[in-house]
Amino acid sequence: MSKRISLTRYLVEQQRVDGLIPGQLRLLLEVVARACKRISFEVNKGALGDAMGSAGSENVQGEVQKKLDIIANEVLIEANEWGGHLAAMASEEMEGIYIVPNRYPQGEYLLMFDPLDGSSNIDVNVSIGTIFSVLEKPQDHPGVTEADFLQQGAKQVAAGYCIYGPQTTLVLTVGDGVAMFTLDREQGSFILIEENVKIPEDTKEFSINMSNMRHWDPSIKRYIDECLQGEEGPRGKNFNMRWIASMVADVHRILCRGGIFMYPWDKREPNKPGKLRLMYEANPMGWLMEQAGGAASNGHQRILEVQPTQLHERVSVIMGSKNEVERVARYYTEVDSNKA
Ligand code: AHG
Ligand code: MN
Ligand code: MN
Repeated sequence: MSKRISLTRYLVEQQRVDGLIPGQLRLLLEVVARACKRISFEVNKGALGDAMGSAGSENVQGEVQKKLDIIANEVLIEANEWGGHLAAMASEEMEGIYIVPNRYPQGEYLLMFDPLDGSSNIDVNVSIGTIFSVLEKPQDHPGVTEADFLQQGAKQVAAGYCIYGPQTTLVLTVGDGVAMFTLDREQGSFILIEENVKIPEDTKEFSINMSNMRHWDPSIKRYIDECLQGEEGPRGKNFNMRWIASMVADVHRILCRGGIFMYPWDKREPNKPGKLRLMYEANPMGWLMEQAGGAASNGHQRILEVQPTQLHERVSVIMGSKNEVERVARYYTEVDSNKA
C-alpha cells in the first residue's frame, strides 16, 4: 500500500521538520479542518437533514441567509472558540468581530471565514465550500479590535478552503506551496492527495458570469471579446467557458487544470469595488493562486497588497493562470493611460 499522509501528519511535519508553523497555528488548522468535516456531513444530508432552504434572515451584506450559512458559521465558531489559539473571529455572516469569550484563554491568531461559499447552489446539489484566512493579532496592544483585522492579504499566515463536492477536499497554504487533502469518510481523516499544486501559466478556459456583460468596463469587455473570437481572433485559439457560481468550485478547477476567474467591478453597483469580499474570499483565494504559481489582481494592483479599510470590504477579482491575469491587468493599464 502506498504511504498515506494525513493532514495531522502533514502539519506536524511542517511544524517539526520544516519549522514552518508554530504549534498554535497547527492546532488552529486542525480545528478548522474538523469543523469543515462536520459541515461536510451536514451538506451531505441534504433534504434528509434540516439544513436546506432559507433561514428567513439577512446578513450584513443584505443577502438572504440560508440555513446552512448559519449552521456552518456556528460550527466554525463553536469548534474554534475554546482552544486557546484565537483572539477573535470574523465572518461573512456576522456584522462585527467575534471576540473569544473571557472564559477561554485568548490566543494570538485571528480567523476569518466565508462559512458557506456558493449559497445559491446548496439547494440544487452543486459544489459549495468554506473559505478561511488566518492573520496574526498585532501584539502592540492588549485586547482585540476590528482594526486588528484590517491587514493586507500579504500578511496572512495560513489560508485555504474546503470544497464539498463529489469529494470533500481541503486545500491549504501556510506559505510553502499549496497542498490538497481529500476526506476519507471511512477513516474520518483528510489524506494528502497532492503537494506543490501548480497552475499552468497559460489557459484556454475563462470563468465569468456572462449575463453581466453589458455592465462591464472596457478592459474586461475587450478581454472576453478577444477570447470569444477564438482561432479567428487576436488570441488565435479557441476558449472554453465555465461558471459554477461557487467561487470555491471555480477556484478549485483552476488549481487543478488552470484557467482564469473573474468577478470584476461592474456598473450595477458602481460605488462598490466588486461583489466578492476582500478579507475572507479574495485574499485567501488570491494567496492560494500565488502560492500555486498563478496571480491575483483587482485590475490595478495585486489583491494581496490592497489595504483593507472595512471588515466586509469588496474587491474586483481577476485570478488564475499567470499570463492571462497579467494580460487583463495590462488592458486595465492601457485604458488608464489613455484616460491620463
Ligand atoms: P456567497 O454564497 O458566499 O455569498 O458567495 C457567492 C459568490 C461566489 O461564490 C460566486 O462566484 C459568486 O458569488 C456568484 O455570483 P453570481 O450569482 O452573481 O454569478
Ligand atoms: Mn462566498
Ligand atoms: Mn457565504
